[in-house]
Amino acid sequence: MLTDVSDVLADPVDGSPLTLDSDRSRFGSPSGRYYGIAGSGYVTLMIDGVHADRADDDGMVTARETFLSRGHYAPFVEAVTGAVQLALDDAGVTDDAHPVVCEIGAGTGYYLSHTLDDVEGARGVGIDLSVPAAERLAACHPRVGAVVADVRRRLPLRDSSVDVLTVVFAPSNPAEFARVLKPGGQVVVLTAEVGHLSELREPLGILDVPEGETEKAIEQAAEWFDTVCEPELVEFTMRLDQESIATQTGMSPSARHIPADVLAERAARIPEHMTLTARATITRLQLR
Ligand SMILES: C[S@@+](CC[C@H](N)C(=O)[O-])C[C@H]1O[C@@H](n2cnc3c(N)ncnc32)[C@H](O)[C@@H]1O
Repeated sequence: MLTDVSDVLADPVDGSPLTLDSDRSRFGSPSGRYYGIAGSGYVTLMIDGVHADRADDDGMVTARETFLSRGHYAPFVEAVTGAVQLALDDAGVTDDAHPVVCEIGAGTGYYLSHTLDDVEGARGVGIDLSVPAAERLAACHPRVGAVVADVRRRLPLRDSSVDVLTVVFAPSNPAEFARVLKPGGQVVVLTAEVGHLSELREPLGILDVPEGETEKAIEQAAEWFDTVCEPELVEFTMRLDQESIATQTGMSPSARHIPADVLAERAARIPEHMTLTARATITRLQLR
């Protein structure tokens, strides 16, 4: 809940600390601005409204929720959760210190909730630009606070307040990551690799994963972060039926580029079952 992480949140305008009103209905800043908590439990910490064109819409979020709930990406979840635990160990942070784990572009909170199950005392902040995603985030785990914000802008988080940041197939902002992480904090990044779901490129015409995503993430962060160890490839196969493939495609960037009826028509022509390759790289970046 947001009450668990109110000591971490900051005014998106000037970075001043937010405090929760006594009736717990809104956050206020010393500068006199107020941010109401929505009935479904998230708070919007943005100054100029949601840029809906970049946020996942309700259909994409529903597809994500359905696909992930079937456990197809379990090896990715295990890799992220394991990397968060290693990052906390490296910093000497124990569960009873109630570390703060913040997921950037957190979607439905699938990864964050699994991480919090693993790190028992941890508290989570999930940030996403999408309101439908934030509604799911607010409900994903009792120790998650859900925030609608644009991670490309100033993060609505206090300086040196976060133990570990996670970025799973989501946009990045290394300068802001460096500001909000505690000394010794790390960013755990999962980036798709060339070959990820490549079996679907031709039959569905979905977008290719661009080359060098991991290298780009490391390079963009190099001013503030060092890689902790060699980035690790996480690769596995999934046997999916037609419906699961359609759901996967519905949550992917291709859902924005190919009209739904065209995608549905192509999906109806693929085999009943397909074996797909999932490929991504996990990288840990440590604040210098
Ligand atoms: C590919 S999804 C990944 C979601 C989640 N990490 C997962 O893997 O299930 C990317 C997420 O980033 C969000 N997003 C895109 N641009 C954003 C921005 N500028 N600020 C915050 N979130 C953003 C989208 O709404 C979407 O939920």
